[in-house]
This record gives sequence, structure tokens and C-alpha cells, in this order.
Amino acid sequence: MDFIPFLDLSRQYQKIKQELLKASEEVFEASTFSLGSDVEKFEEQFASFCKVKHAVGVDNGTSAIVLALKSCGIKENDEVIVPANSFIATAAAVSHIGGVPVFVDCTTDTWQISPEDVKRKITSKTKAIIGVHLYGMPFDVEGIRKIAEENKLLLIEDCAQAQGATYNGVSVGNFGKAGTFSFYPVKNLGAYGEAGAVVTNDDEVSERVKRLRNHGSVEKYVHEEIGFNMRIDALQAAFLSVKLKHLNEWNFRRREIAEFYIGTIKNPKLTFQYVPENCHSVYHLFVATIKDRDGFRDYLNQHKIGSGLHYPIPCHLQKAYSSLGYSKGDLPNSEYLAEHCLSLPMFPELRQSELEYIAQVINKY
Ligand SMILES: Cc1ncc(COP(=O)(O)O)c(C=O)c1O
Repeated sequence: MDFIPFLDLSRQYQKIKQELLKASEEVFEASTFSLGSDVEKFEEQFASFCKVKHAVGVDNGTSAIVLALKSCGIKENDEVIVPANSFIATAAAVSHIGGVPVFVDCTTDTWQISPEDVKRKITSKTKAIIGVHLYGMPFDVEGIRKIAEENKLLLIEDCAQAQGATYNGVSVGNFGKAGTFSFYPVKNLGAYGEAGAVVTNDDEVSERVKRLRNHGSVEKYVHEEIGFNMRIDALQAAFLSVKLKHLNEWNFRRREIAEFYIGTIKNPKLTFQYVPENCHSVYHLFVATIKDRDGFRDYLNQHKIGSGLHYPIPCHLQKAYSSLGYSKGDLPNSEYLAEHCLSLPMFPELRQSELEYIAQVINKY
């Protein structure tokens, strides 16, 4: 058996190469490279995929959160509750607009933002909650939305890892004032470079995101407010339109792979993420916990199986946030996960023979 990578994007590229080359040729012929009709086309297609009113393409998923927060009126010194068990971009976006991220713990079984801890962390300065649909699985939307409503807090969904996931049958991105997506190449829907989007059912938020991504301007050289250059490239939008047509099929295959892992790996040393019945996960990542994580990772590597860690240091203990004064022990579930998590290979093009080999190797550990 050759080395099985944690992720191999080239297998997918080979399958859709002709479609991608055709799409890029059309962009070069039209010669509009930033915003323009290819971007508008993708925005319409993505809004329809998420069953939302508006999708606004931006340059990456971090910008999407910055623009969502700013468009919804979050200001300097406002506290925004974010999960510690996430990629740092969720918190960093809050910091970029001068806000203060307040980290909360995850639950012990779903590993998602804990409603109980959110309640404990609300102060008079709290203005928003960002929930992250982590690893492709929706967080406890009902629990978090109830707290947001009772405390008059803005709810933003970070959907960077969850294109196509649903909660009670409804697509993520529909539950908060805005939802944000990353199309970083490794995502379930990934660009060939950087890209992201904000989705919303609110006309005003959509208009403001459009304005802010383009230097605060709708009409050329007329600037209503100070904005950013956070525009999406036409080439990336064209590639994303090609890939969006395949996304349901790819997500279906990810779920098949997850079901195979769950059904075939029978090693009591491993614990998998608990997925509640009303959550339809698109398995961006397949994460397990195991006591001897580093030993297990070496063992997989010796048997030519790649793996990942998502995430090895929880956000509240990152050096970047040392000024906020958190210490070890503050958010025990997130800290446990950081020390014991391991992500198995997960991408739609994994072969059945590879999956069987992975399960066999793990069962012998
Ligand atoms: C949960 C989460 N939020 C935000 C981001 C930021 O997206 P980007 O890397 O496109 O800026 C990512 C992806 O990297 C992510 O996984």
C-alpha cells in the first residue's frame, strides 16, 4: 500500500480538469478579473444552494467574518463570544474590528460550542455570539439561538467547514443574522486559491457587506464609508461554480466514508464525535480522540497513514491571545480535545481499498 495522505486535492483536480480549464478560459476571454458577472453568477448559485436570500463573495473566510460583524454593527470593545475549540480565524476576525473575543468551552460529546458555558460568559458588554459548525457538523443551534434571543445578542454562524450541512433539515447559514463561509482549498467546497462568502436573509446586511468589501463604494469613486479591499476574484468564482455542481455528490461520499469508519473501526481506545439525529454533518473532518494520541499518530505514520490535528492548541491558550489572561484549566473540554484529538484521512476520492486498510491498521492498535 502506498502512503495514504490525510488529504489529496490532486485526485479531484484530475477528475474535473477539463471543466476547470474551460471555465478559466472563459474568464480570460471576458477579461474581468475582480467581481463582475462570474462573481454574480456564483453568488446566485451559492445562495440557492444554501437556500438563503443573498450570498456575497469575498476574498476569504476570515474577511467574511470581519464583514459580517461590521455590517451587523459590532464595534470596538464589544465582547463577542466564540468557541475556544476552533480555528483561530473566528476569534481573530473579532480582534480585527477592535472587539474582544470571549472564549467558551465545548461540550464533552459533540465538541461544539457549549450553551451552558455561553450563559456563564455573558456580561453587560456582550454583543454577539459566533457559533462554529465545526468539522462539518452543525452546533446546537436551538440552544445557542435561544440564549442569543433571550439576551438580545447577535448570532453569526461560522460555516467555514460546513458547506451543505443541515440542522433540522435547514441549511446552515439560515439561523443567524449572517453566515460566513471559507472556500480555502481544503474545504468541502474549495477554491484554487483564496475565497469566501457571507450569506444572509437580511437585505441591509447584504448591501453593507457588498459596500464594505469594495472600499465602502457602490458607485465608482464614490465612498460612503471607509471599507476594505475584500473582493473575490472572478477566476475563483468561476472555479467555485464548476465545483458547486459536484458538491452534493462529494458530501455524500464523505458521509459514506464516515459511516464506514464508524461501522468498521472497532477499537475501544478511540472515541468519535457524537452527531445528534437532527444534525446532518458533511464531515469536513473525521475527528477521533484517543488517550495516547502522539503514540497512535506515530503508529499510523509507520503504517503509511497520514493524519491531522484539529486543533492542537485551543485558541484561549494561543500566544496571540496571552494578553487576555487565560490559563490552563480554564476551558477543560477544549484543552482535553487539543491534547487527544486526531483527524483520519477524509476526502471524497479516498479509495475503498485504502479505507479497508486504514480500519484494519487501527483495529490492530
Ligand atoms: C472555522 C473556520 N473559521 C474561519 C476560517 C477562515 O477562513 P479563511 O482561511 O478562508 O480565511 C476557517 C478556515 O480556515 C475555519 O476553519
